[in-house]
Amino acid sequence: MISKLLSTASTLSEIVTCFPGASRVLERHGIDYCCEGDRSLADACADREVSAEAALAEMDGELPAPPHARWDRLPVGDLIQHIFHAHHDSSRAALARLRGMAARVERAHADHESCPHGLAEHIGRLSEEIEDHLRREEAVVFPAIERGVLRGGASIDVVRRDHQDLMERLARARWLAKGFRPPPDACLTWVELYVGLARLEHGLQYHIHLENNVLFSRGGLVPSLSEGTRRR
Ligand SMILES: [Fe+2]
Ligand SMILES: [Fe+2]
Repeated sequence: MISKLLSTASTLSEIVTCFPGASRVLERHGIDYCCEGDRSLADACADREVSAEAALAEMDGELPAPPHARWDRLPVGDLIQHIFHAHHDSSRAALARLRGMAARVERAHADHESCPHGLAEHIGRLSEEIEDHLRREEAVVFPAIERGVLRGGASIDVVRRDHQDLMERLARARWLAKGFRPPPDACLTWVELYVGLARLEHGLQYHIHLENNVLFSRGGLVPSLSEGTRRR
């Protein structure tokens, strides 16, 4: 049980690193654990007027998560490859698919009062920004972390700022998509679009958590590796 191992004084970063399933509870309460992972649960809950004890109990009530990798204990190179394959590739694929779906929904339901006007264009801009960001990580920042030549500094600050901008873009997507709640008469594509966007939002938040709170805090400990961070 989470409440036996962690407390309301634990940081959001510790909680999600030890129990990834807790991220769902934090997201339900609108608590940002990826860019504000240094905050304690008590502090973050106070801002949202949520009882921290109740949030911990909710985490205990979540179905037990399947065994998961403790990325704070595994080699940094493995974490980087995991981020590339499980998060970068899936984000690219999801964004391309969701952009097309949003365009179809906007075209077919232009006169509907709940039509998410502007969503396809917004997803398009989000895709371009994410692509720039992923390329910077893949080509420059992560290889330098893995070689042990990047220990904090300006490059990491740029990536962290990108993450904050991406969180704002995600919030805008959620707003344009009416909180991802389709109207009762929505077609299947519309429903799938919002389900896909909610999944993308969750995946990106967890992805950013792995980078901000796990990878960057471990970067300074990495021994030099001769093979670099090429995708394997
Ligand atoms: Fe990334
Ligand atoms: Fe990132």
